[in-house]
Formats: sequence, C-alpha cells, structure tokens
Amino acid sequence: MPTNTLPVLVTQHGPLRLLTLNRADKLNAFTPEMLEALAAAIDDALADDATRVIAVTGSGHKAFAAGNDIERLVSIDSVSAYRDMVGGQRVLLRLHDCAKPTIAMVNGYAFGGGFELALACDFIVASANASFAFPEITLNTMPGWGGTQMAVAKMGLALAKRFVMSGKRFSAQQCEAFGLIHEIAQPDALFDAVQALAQTLASYDPFAIEMAKRALNRANELPLSAGLDFEAAQYTVNFASEGARAGLRQFIDRQRARRTHQSNPVTTTP
Ligand code: COA
Repeated sequence: MPTNTLPVLVTQHGPLRLLTLNRADKLNAFTPEMLEALAAAIDDALADDATRVIAVTGSGHKAFAAGNDIERLVSIDSVSAYRDMVGGQRVLLRLHDCAKPTIAMVNGYAFGGGFELALACDFIVASANASFAFPEITLNTMPGWGGTQMAVAKMGLALAKRFVMSGKRFSAQQCEAFGLIHEIAQPDALFDAVQALAQTLASYDPFAIEMAKRALNRANELPLSAGLDFEAAQYTVNFASEGARAGLRQFIDRQRARRTHQSNPVTTTP
C-alpha cells in the first residue's frame, strides 16, 4: 500500500515518534482500520529503544480527529458498537498507561474519540485554532472510549459533566485555562513546540519518567494510603537505578565545582 493511503503515518524525528491519523478528507474520523493501525504503531514505538517520546496528530489543517466514524455507527448493531468501544478503550488505555511520555499534537478539531485520544496522552500541545468537545450528546449518544471515566480522572467531575452533558465546543484558550493544555502554539509553530517538549522529556532518564508516570496514573485509581505505598515502592525501585544514582551525583559534582570556582575565581590579567 503506498504510504499516503495508510490509515496512520509514522515518522521519526530524533527521539520523537510521530503518529499521524491519515484521513484528512473525513477530518480523521476513526475507522476500525485506523484504530488497529494506531494500536500497532503505538506498540512499535514502545518496542523501539531509540523512541523516547510518542506524539499523535491528525493530517490536514482542520482536524486532530472528529471522533468515531458516524457513517459506520449508524450501520452497526449494539454488539459491534460494544466491541468497537471496548477496542477503542483498550488502545487509549495503552497510550495512557505506557512507559513512554506521550503528546497529543492537536491541530484542529478534537471531538468525541479525538478528544478522548488527546486526553489519553500525558500532554496536549494545541494550535491556537484547536477546539475540543464531546458532541455525542447532541447525537443522543455518549462518549465510549473513556470520555466518562478517564475524563473525570483527568479534569474532575464538574468539568467532565460540563463537556459531556452540554456537548459544547471549547477553544484551546478555554481548555488551557481549565489546565488541560500544556502549551498553545500558532499552527505553523505547533510541531516545533512539540519537538521542544519531546527534547526536554527525552533528556531525562527514561526509567525515572516511567516510574513517575506509573505512580501519577495510580493516583486516580487507588485510595490515598495505597497510592502512597505504591509511590514509595516506585521511588525505591527508581532510587536503585543507575540513572538515579548518576543524576544525584551529578548535582553534587556541579555544586562542588561551583563552590571551587567561587573560592578560586579565575583572574585575567589585562
Ligand atoms: N464521522 C464521519 N465523517 C465525519 C465525521 C465523523 N465523526 N466528522 C466529519 N466527517 C466528515 C463529514 O461528513 C464531511 O465529509 P464529506 O466531505 O464527504 O461530506 C467531512 O468530514 C468534512 O466535515 P464537515 O462537516 O464538512 O466539516 P466542517 O468544518 O463543516 O465541520 C465538524 C466540522 C467537526 C464541526 C463537523 O464535521 C462535525 O460536527 N463532525 C462530527 C463530530 C462528532 O459528532 N463527533 C463524535 C462522533 S461519535
């Protein structure tokens, strides 16, 4: 199949693996093939040691993803709908809970499943013209890829109700004020902003990132005391790693070098 007809395009940019939903003429509305290709692309990226950060975006200039394919939804029965939803939840959960940091590069509409995909990522970097919505209620349906569960965990019950039960569209600027967005960039600077964030994330020890992300994700799932026990265990596992020893030692070495420099300043003769 020629590259430009694949449901998901995969490109590598140093440590960043970019996965692009490739159905611009339908605003990247999800098909089962696209979801399957996305799942495979996520697994490939996770298996590749050189890939330190995974980003997801949509092709074209209008949309990140306009949700599930409504033309398909009108033609399937409830058993297929159930299977579709469980399948979508699995893919998004994989992204949410994977070992590597993930970024949603939202370049336009992030509606329905598109918004759920963005929320499944650790960071949302959005173009200034992006917008976010759960329009399902306007179709007399409801979100099914985690929109009522993961969205509550990510944004709190009150805000999740505002999105899900109103079906209203919110701008990138509003979502930034809600705390959902890491950064807003002009459309032509969006990829640069994602790359800069990816470089920062890739500069840290991958094991420390993985342990911290795992502990953060459990915060929404465990009672506080169990969460704190889990955090302490993750901290200790990470503490024993070479990366943590080196990171702590480097700080001490830098401080020592600074003190030595301060007590023996280099004097230059005119
Ligand atoms: N499923 C299937 N096709 C979709 C789609 C979806 N979720 N969203 C958009 N499309 C298609 C449109 O049917 C249209 O196809 P066509 O050119 O063959 O007619 C194409 O994508 C462009 O969409 P269009 O509606 O013309 O663009 P717009 O800029 O006027 O509006 C939206 C953009 C996102 C506001 C509008 O397309 C929309 O409301 N989409 C549905 C969003 C939704 O309810 N998602 C949740 C689904 S469960």
